[in-house]
Parts: sequence; structure tokens; C-alpha cells
Amino acid sequence: MPFPSALFPPTRPARDTDVTALAALWERCALTRPWNDPVTDIAFARKGPNSEVLVIEQDGKICASVMVGHDGHRGWVYYLAVEPDLQRGGLGRHIMDEAQSWLRAKGAWKMHLMIRRSNGAVRTFYEKLGFSESDVVVLSKSLT
Ligand SMILES: CC(C)(COP(=O)(O)OP(=O)(O)OC[C@H]1O[C@@H](n2cnc3c(N)ncnc32)[C@H](O)[C@@H]1OP(=O)(O)O)[C@@H](O)C(=O)NCCC(=O)NCCS
Repeated sequence: MPFPSALFPPTRPARDTDVTALAALWERCALTRPWNDPVTDIAFARKGPNSEVLVIEQDGKICASVMVGHDGHRGWVYYLAVEPDLQRGGLGRHIMDEAQSWLRAKGAWKMHLMIRRSNGAVRTFYEKLGFSESDVVVLSKSLT
């Protein structure tokens, strides 16, 4: 059941004990890929002061997450996930607000995110939050 009256539990940084539940949430939200090991990604994000995994817990269960960080120039978010049963209840917007506050507190002035082409439906969600498409092409190269 969605949360009543947008009364959301507090957002907190992920802990060591959250890793298995987080990876399972990402799996349920179809965010995992064979080439991205969630455990490695979580550990890397939690390693330094410039990134974090934020979570919301309901009844002892992680029900929302966002990975947030900045690279010294831009703020980025990854692994935004809301438990499927709780989607469309405002939790996604709420945890994105929390990610925004985290970045602002770190001094970041712009927030970026990437949407997989296969997940185009989520674009409307981000547009409702004020995001718009940038006129850039993202390139990548594996370093491993
Ligand atoms: C994307 C996601 C986090 C949204 O969370 P949510 O809790 O359902 O979002 P909210 O209820 O806060 O929605 C905020 C607004 O976006 C709209 N919205 C949410 N998902 C939408 C969708 N798939 N298509 C169109 N609109 C959507 C809501 O209707 C709401 O609109 P309103 O402000 O006019 O009422 C959630 O659907 C999810 O976890 N998806 C799977 C993982 C994923 O795709 N993550 C993003 C990777 S880039």
C-alpha cells in the first residue's frame, strides 16, 4: 500500500546490512545488469565523501533507494528505485528531492542522470520533476 498523505519515513545513508536488500530491490525494479555488480557498485559509492546510497525503509524493509554523488563538477543520480507495490505514491519524487538536497549540501549546482533507451517510459516521471533532455551524447569506455 502506498504511504498515506505523503508521510514518508526518513531517508538515511545505506548501511553494510542493507546491501543484500538493496540488490534485491534493484533486481525487482529491473535496474541490474550482468556487467554491473550491485555489491561492487554500492561499496564504491559508499567509499568516499562525494557519493552515497540513500535509502528509505518501511517496516524494516528497504523500499526506495537512490545513489547520489558528484564528480567535482556535476551531480549525478543512479539506481533510483521504488518498491513496485509502492510506486505511483509519491515516493520516487520524494527520494529524488532528498537526492537533490544531498547534492545541494555538497555544493553541486546541476543534477544529471541517464535513462537506458530500453526504459524510455520513465522519462515522463523525470520531466514531471523538472528534468529535460540535454543536447549531449554520452560516451563511455571500460577501464577494466
Ligand atoms: C521511476 C520510479 C522511481 C518512480 O517512482 P514513483 O514512486 O512511482 O514516482 P512518483 O509516484 O513520485 O511519481 C511522480 C510523478 O511522476 C509520475 N510517474 C511516475 N512514474 C511514471 C511513469 N512510468 N510514466 C509516467 N509518469 C510517471 C507520477 O504519476 C507522478 O505524477 P504527478 O506528480 O503528476 O502525480 C519507479 O517507477 C521505479 O522504481 N521504477 C523502476 C526503476 C527505474 O526505472 N528507475 C529509474 C532508472 S533511470
